Amino acid sequence: MAATQEPDNLDSKFYKAADAFFPAYSNVGLTYDDVTLATLYSEILPRDTQLDTTLAEGLSLNIPVISADMDTVTESRMAIAMALNGGLGLIHYNMPERQQLSEVSRVKNNVHGLIQEPIKVTPEQLIGEVLELIAKKRFAFSTFPVVDSQGKLVGLLPGHVVRQRYAQRKVAETLTPRAQVHTLSQKELGRDPIAKADKFFTDHPGINKLLVVDDQDRLHGLFTMSDIERITQEQNAQFKPARDARFRLICGAAVSATRNAFGELDRQRILTHVGALVERGLDVVAVSTAHGHSRGVGDAVRMLRDAFPKLPIMAGNVTSAAGVEFLADCGANAIKVGQGPGSICTTRIVAGVGIPQLTALYVSSRAARSKRVTIVADGGITKSGDIVKALTLAEGVICGGILAGCPEAPGEVMEIGGKLYKQYRGMGSWAAMKQGAAARYGHSPDPARKVAPEGVEALKEVSGSVDRVLAQLIGGIQSGMGYLGAANLAQLRERARFIRVSPAGQREAGPHDVVELKTGN
Ligand code: XMP
Repeated sequence: MAATQEPDNLDSKFYKAADAFFPAYSNVGLTYDDVTLATLYSEILPRDTQLDTTLAEGLSLNIPVISADMDTVTESRMAIAMALNGGLGLIHYNMPERQQLSEVSRVKNNVHGLIQEPIKVTPEQLIGEVLELIAKKRFAFSTFPVVDSQGKLVGLLPGHVVRQRYAQRKVAETLTPRAQVHTLSQKELGRDPIAKADKFFTDHPGINKLLVVDDQDRLHGLFTMSDIERITQEQNAQFKPARDARFRLICGAAVSATRNAFGELDRQRILTHVGALVERGLDVVAVSTAHGHSRGVGDAVRMLRDAFPKLPIMAGNVTSAAGVEFLADCGANAIKVGQGPGSICTTRIVAGVGIPQLTALYVSSRAARSKRVTIVADGGITKSGDIVKALTLAEGVICGGILAGCPEAPGEVMEIGGKLYKQYRGMGSWAAMKQGAAARYGHSPDPARKVAPEGVEALKEVSGSVDRVLAQLIGGIQSGMGYLGAANLAQLRERARFIRVSPAGQREAGPHDVVELKTGN
């Protein structure tokens, strides 16, 4: 561990610890770009820093990054990618409850490396139809399992026969028959399916697909050699997937404090749904609303705490010490902090309410410390430096916009003026509220009632995969920790020294007086 070197007197007059710095600015709301962190003597290399964080008993992450419970950010695909990288995804609630249950099941049942719903073809199809499918869906592969109407494996259609010259032939005429197809039974997968598949490919030179079937020979998945090779390389990665005690990926889901026809908290409905989520292995429930310091949210958290004493509960959003204390007293373990910092938020404009994020985090963090709960910084993260600053006060961050352009986020890619975009919308936007999120903002979903949207509908430029985006963010966090001599997040919180930045200082912080050819990402 690095020696903690007290700054000399001159440094300490300028670069202040949080408890000296923020109270000195009690008359102004500060956010990420308003401050910068001072470097400190360091014996820590960025690559040696640890990023694990505990948000609640039974809820630990290997990286402190959570994907937002928004309908253009987190469904099962995003949650799987986040957990594989060591983080957490919160499945949004803007969908029928049954669908949210199956989204959670998908994450909990995910076997890394096993494609659980492979694209299949039927014996009756023509090769020409398969070619059309490949072109339409832009598949980069042309080998397909062949199944009958009961889902039973009939054979494998090898890529070398999927050619125009065979377009008029039936799949049945050209497939490799069942008896010659290599399979593994579901039961044989064991605790380490990757090792099983890896050994299989080593033992069978030239074979690069392995199918998984059940006792009735119904298809349940597909391993490809290239996936397995990539994963075995990744197993040396510094940050391991976030898993539960049964080796399943961890997953969170958001619920709202829904009300019944009489305007009362819909206790039965919420309890039944969360009970079903817990049965599926849910690791944390997030009671997500725009105003967490309110009776309805308090009642919902208290009710869930009583019904599920061991379930980690995240609740919010708040921006005050009283709000944190209230939710902690109701039984929440991790409090979401942020009102209006989000890239699609208009709460501060529409309602005139909200606190710049760093001040909100400071105030909340001190209340959280005395209540022995944690806080997560929700919204307003646009770069890795913001995360470093957030983590000087919070145990984790929630990101929406920064992940919304990833292929793992829900939604179609659209092309505008030669550039590719994905939709990203606030959960308080008109469109999202119409689809069900109105309860989050305390509005009625009834279109006849007047509601003021508190979010916008927007576009994000398509970005790289979650793996790539997180690699950039994690690299930045580790750099920040190296500059501060912090080996882990607890040391980062302890060692951070802040100074206010002038407008000229903010300009100085970005690239300037150059013609930028490539962005830093
Ligand atoms: P970023 O900045 O990561 O913010 O895009 C994501 C967070 O923003 C919150 N959120 C909203 N806030 N109106 C708001 O005032 C909205 O319509 C809205 N939708 C999402 C939410 O906390 C999310 O995690």
